[in-house]
Amino acid sequence: MQQQVDALRSEALELIASAHDAASLEAARLKYLGKSGAITALSEGMRNVPKEERPVIGKLLNDLRAAVTAALEDSQKRLLEAADLAAFASLDLSLPGTFPSPGTLHPLTQLMDRAVRCFRRMGFAIADGPDIETEWHCFDALNTPPDHPARNEQDTFYLPDGRLLRSHTSSVQIRVMETTPPPVRIIAPGSAYRRDEVDATHLAQFTQMEGLYVAEKVSLADLKGTLEFFFRELFGAGTDIQFRPHFFPFTEPSYEIDIRTEALGGEWMELAGCGMVDPAVFEAICERRGDRIYDPEKVSGFAFGFGLERLAMNLSRIPDIRMLVENDLRFLKQF
Ligand code: DAH
Repeated sequence: MQQQVDALRSEALELIASAHDAASLEAARLKYLGKSGAITALSEGMRNVPKEERPVIGKLLNDLRAAVTAALEDSQKRLLEAADLAAFASLDLSLPGTFPSPGTLHPLTQLMDRAVRCFRRMGFAIADGPDIETEWHCFDALNTPPDHPARNEQDTFYLPDGRLLRSHTSSVQIRVMETTPPPVRIIAPGSAYRRDEVDATHLAQFTQMEGLYVAEKVSLADLKGTLEFFFRELFGAGTDIQFRPHFFPFTEPSYEIDIRTEALGGEWMELAGCGMVDPAVFEAICERRGDRIYDPEKVSGFAFGFGLERLAMNLSRIPDIRMLVENDLRFLKQF
């Protein structure tokens, strides 16, 4: 029996060690440990072994089974490792990699950042207000009468509850003065909405930057100095700037700002509205606050507002405003 077991062991171990793939290993397992395998058959033969020999023979058979099982496990590990190595063998580490493409900021965001940095250097803080506004914040408090065309349903998006999508960021002026005592010096970048037909120069949602400076004795000279500095920072020191009288309900006097640079073709471009805060706006604030800290006899201020898309189009010679919202990478990658 001992010899029989020894012979079976060396035969099995040799076969298992030479298995070259999963299939031949499985065949070897079945040959010895399967239902009709050689070791299984030997174990069944135990029935005929005399009682006193059983412990010895039983141990022989158990050892054989354990040795073969261990050899099968070893071989399986060896085959798996070989398969891994084979997979790596076809890997060419000298091939160029795939480069990450982190992207860049949108041209409007870049311009917004530049504008914000410039005003922050002049002491302006950033203010914020809701895109969904009340009529009072968007129009009434800004001295815009009920029959003003901007309040028309054709021009402004109204919600069923009477609120609206702000048609300009000037509403943030009102929000700031409602809650903050003077002096205030803020800019408010954000979206504005109008019921415009979308074309090469109009979007129904666009971006504005509003500014407000209210304190004692703020003058038109402060307004001109601030905005001339800003536009020369953006367009260059040699930029011509003109303040052309205009009308806005919330400022008096009011101006439109045109700028001209040789580098951009030497044509006047209309870029912003501005003016000295109308006393009627201060009175609306006083009434709402229930105090007189914005008494137009005590404080004065200037305000301005401009569209960032328009500014970007002029600065970067963008022919169609829709390019700024189409997300075409061929366009965006140029910035
Ligand atoms: N709100 C004006 C617009 O949307 C822009 C504007 C003009 C803002 C004059 C102002 C201002 O603060 O003083 O066209």
